[in-house]
Amino acid sequence: MAYGRTPDILLPVKGDLYHIAPIPVIYHEVSVPDLAGFNADLSRIARDSMSQAEIEVPDVKHHADMGKAIEFDDDSWSETQIPAIGVWHCVPTNNFLENPAEPVQRLKSIVEDLYRFTVQETADIKAEQPCISESWIQFYKDGDHKVLHNHERYGPPYPEERWCGAYYLDDGTPDPAMPYSGMFSFRVRQTSYFIKPKPGLLLMWPADILHEVAPFYGKSERVVINFNINLRPLRFSQQPGALCKTPPLQVADLRPRRQAAGFCIVLLNPSPDH
Ligand SMILES: [Fe+2]
Repeated sequence: MAYGRTPDILLPVKGDLYHIAPIPVIYHEVSVPDLAGFNADLSRIARDSMSQAEIEVPDVKHHADMGKAIEFDDDSWSETQIPAIGVWHCVPTNNFLENPAEPVQRLKSIVEDLYRFTVQETADIKAEQPCISESWIQFYKDGDHKVLHNHERYGPPYPEERWCGAYYLDDGTPDPAMPYSGMFSFRVRQTSYFIKPKPGLLLMWPADILHEVAPFYGKSERVVINFNINLRPLRFSQQPGALCKTPPLQVADLRPRRQAAGFCIVLLNPSPDH
């Protein structure tokens, strides 16, 4: 989101009909010489470099992996719920795009180039050094899903030009009897806009846009790399670029924070001013 005033907001459709808030979305089919081999390499790198708990979609079966459970021991309470939206959901950011392997870094470059193009076209900003602040690869098994949420932060510092995205390695061969299986959708003005995942598809959207993943049922695993990207590193501490130099994931150290509503990116070793 760009701050400040933007003139000329009426985009002509026909006659006196205008659009005032079109949502920009990147729909890009990655083109590499051997897409299947490229995606297989990415999956292999993830499996070889991370534990099973780190690459699975977090849900109740990962209770023991995610640190101390949240205890709702009050009879009543209040919680500030802006600007992040969604039912509490805890995602360990395994920061897969920080893996130095060549296929991973090639994908990261594609993401960064698309982001530069996007903010240039949508906000007239030259993004010299985009910052992928978090990324996570996940292997969806039967029944895995993502509740409706956005990727806004719960509190300051708020990122500039924050977008998020997904790169699909495998659609998991969804069960044809379950037409919504693993389907990705945006939710805007009470309408769901569905996009079918397919290998090589790279989506990017503004971080405030609500989206969800329908329960997945398929023959194999649905594999996706998600990420958050913004204009420059967030300053959580005196250390410049703290969120672009995330320490290695230690699942046992994850500290779910009490957030009853919103999408929760669990930060490892958050600095005191977070
Ligand atoms: Fe998401």
